[in-house]
Amino acid sequence: MKFNSLRSLRLLVLLPWLLAGQGWFLGAAQNRPVPNEQLASKDLNARVEALLEKMTLEEKIGQLVQYSAGYATGPNASNLKYDELVARGQVSSFLNVVGAEATNHYQHIAMEKSRLHIPLLFGQDVIHGHRTTFPVPLALAASWDPSAAEFVAHYGAVEARADGLAWVFSPMVDIARDPRWGRIIESSGEDPYLGSAMARAWVKGYQQDDLSRPDSVAVSVKHFAAYGAAVAGRDYNATDMSELTLRQVYLKPYHAAVDAGAATLMSSFNSINGIPATANPFTLTQILRREWGFDGFVVSDWGAVSELINHSIGDGPTVALKALEAGVDMDMEGNLYGTVIAGQVRSGKIPESVVDEAVRRVLRVKFALGLFEHPYTAEGPAYDATPDRRAAARRVADETLVLLKNDPVEGVGALLPLTAKAKKVALIGPLADNQRELLGAWAVTGDPKYVVTLRTALQERLGDRLLYAQGCDLLTGEDASIVKRVDFDRPMAADDHSPVPDDARTIAEAVDTSKKADVVILALGEPANWMEGEAASRATLGFTGVQEQLLEAVAATRKPIILVVLAGRPLELTWAAAHVPAIVEAWSPGIEAGHAVADVLFGDVNPSGKLPSSFPRSVGQEPLYYAQLPTGRPAAHLDLSHFPQNPQEKFVSRYMDEENSALFPFGWGLSYTRFSYAQPTISRAEVPAQEVIASAGKPVVKVGVDVRNTGSVAGTEVVQFYIRNTAASVEQPVRELKGFARVTLAPGEQKHVEFPLGFDELNFYNVDLKRTVEPTIYKIWVGGSSLAKAETSLRVVE
Ligand code: NOJ
Repeated sequence: MKFNSLRSLRLLVLLPWLLAGQGWFLGAAQNRPVPNEQLASKDLNARVEALLEKMTLEEKIGQLVQYSAGYATGPNASNLKYDELVARGQVSSFLNVVGAEATNHYQHIAMEKSRLHIPLLFGQDVIHGHRTTFPVPLALAASWDPSAAEFVAHYGAVEARADGLAWVFSPMVDIARDPRWGRIIESSGEDPYLGSAMARAWVKGYQQDDLSRPDSVAVSVKHFAAYGAAVAGRDYNATDMSELTLRQVYLKPYHAAVDAGAATLMSSFNSINGIPATANPFTLTQILRREWGFDGFVVSDWGAVSELINHSIGDGPTVALKALEAGVDMDMEGNLYGTVIAGQVRSGKIPESVVDEAVRRVLRVKFALGLFEHPYTAEGPAYDATPDRRAAARRVADETLVLLKNDPVEGVGALLPLTAKAKKVALIGPLADNQRELLGAWAVTGDPKYVVTLRTALQERLGDRLLYAQGCDLLTGEDASIVKRVDFDRPMAADDHSPVPDDARTIAEAVDTSKKADVVILALGEPANWMEGEAASRATLGFTGVQEQLLEAVAATRKPIILVVLAGRPLELTWAAAHVPAIVEAWSPGIEAGHAVADVLFGDVNPSGKLPSSFPRSVGQEPLYYAQLPTGRPAAHLDLSHFPQNPQEKFVSRYMDEENSALFPFGWGLSYTRFSYAQPTISRAEVPAQEVIASAGKPVVKVGVDVRNTGSVAGTEVVQFYIRNTAASVEQPVRELKGFARVTLAPGEQKHVEFPLGFDELNFYNVDLKRTVEPTIYKIWVGGSSLAKAETSLRVVE
């Protein structure tokens, strides 16, 4: 198939989606004996060796060099003479060079002027779609539907390939347990089980288990490793954790991605227990290559090799050598490998064989992608958000919204779904009609002009029954310094920030507008472009600017309020949860934002999303996650509405001024119907530990549960399966997710759902860091959130 026709690929894109049953896509990747058979293939490796033999040292090092010849997504853009470097064979890859014209320009030089005609590999951040912008990854995780992530990835792959890109810097699989960290938006949230399921799906969607296909791209799984655990949630900060936690929690999604055949990984900016991740032989070689058998290549993050100098582990030549020896094969925009490695080899500081090995890894991926056969990209038709693309984006977005609260209002009942009863609706808030912000924080090639805003979508449904007032901006005049700090030249840069000059007046107008309506929809959140994603950590988690004042002023009208939260991280919704009857978390929904929100508000879509990340009551609880380790002084069952009266309440693990629990816990999400859970059954109540260990990942026990839709409309429930190991040699979390299933039920319908339990689900790392199963009792819960109550147990005996 030709690379040039996106249209002809459309069926290919849609077919898997149509065929997708739950988890339908994941089986093949899970059973693969080696991480990527293509990269391990004999023929391919013979081609690599033949080419390697012909290469000079400079040409070899050239294969380890990547530059950004487009816009900057980090500091120190190099601005070199790229045409000349490419002609000399000293560039392997470019990032941020997009489109047939731009990529072909450099590719012609590489193929026609360089001595060995090695094609360039073009890569870019394709995070939530390429041209067609879908919801952000955190939102996709809220769908708990890996086949949706797989679909988005494949869609992005097709569009990226049409733009000359054969490599995407996605998925980000970092576990994120602290929403102060702005990059939580790119993650699948706090949980290693959900994160691993999503990681496999992203890889499968991009790579299609076959890098040579014209509709697949190589992934770069990032950021290896433990980038999400930056101390205090501050981006680029150090990470410090036990090897046990590293293996048991943080490494799991990367491992899942490697097992799914990931062709490349990206090393992270942070240090891990004192060793920078970009010069860390333990993670990059011992774990990644020796233990996991990874045979693709590792690229550094942007400038991360040269930033090793700031980590104070040596000067330029020393850190380049340390990174290469540790296992970073390609230097992204650091401009160090290309300038100092040859000298290090010639002076005997590093054997040429280390360079050779890195070159092999890079060339393998280029061969597997078919770049030597198809180096160029045909000019395609200009992009347009056609109806089928919109339908795809809407369908995915519909699954990602989470109904956090829907309490009945006196005299009205539950506000949602909105019915014809709502004669006049006031839409208020700075995110109600802002295309750029609704697109999301990391839509590099997405175009805000395609975004359907909430205002547009509600207007379509309500006509002149819709009233509108912006109320305020996302930031105030005083916050303008934040904008200056981040307002640099990149495609999605914020260039349309115009703070409302007089907040008091606009809030008063919004209050007046609210008074004229039967119901108010408030669209609040935070600025995606300035305060979410990379380098966007926050020390507070409230609505930005004066949005909270706007909310409180509108609430004071006593009109029924539906709050739609649009943000790429869990925000502190404590006041809202206490005063607003209905809350929908809509994240950053992409081009079909308004339609997806309207679908849920009007009940055309029954919300089915569940939180992939705990929502705090207060930022001081962070990092807050459900799978906490036990404490000797648990504070469970304490009523915090009073000051501790006795030592049992005082000397426990608690805050004096806040609950321990999340405001909305992991897995939480309501529906317009209700689901009931029967008592779970277990196929065997007792099983010997040795049998579990010997089962090699095959299930030894099945837990079954009947789930019933007891309401009056059809709905989809994410049935969640949690365990707790109550007596292990190393203490284990109070709950851990070990399975989930999306189940659609008609009113009154009941389905039986089964979850397998075997070594994969029951093992943990012992004190010798070996995965094992010991005699114990596992408590088991099944339900609709991490608070699941339907309970059974499994005894593991000697
Ligand atoms: C830095 C970011 O950390 C990484 O996620 C991204 O892929 C690169 N820049 C390239 O843009």
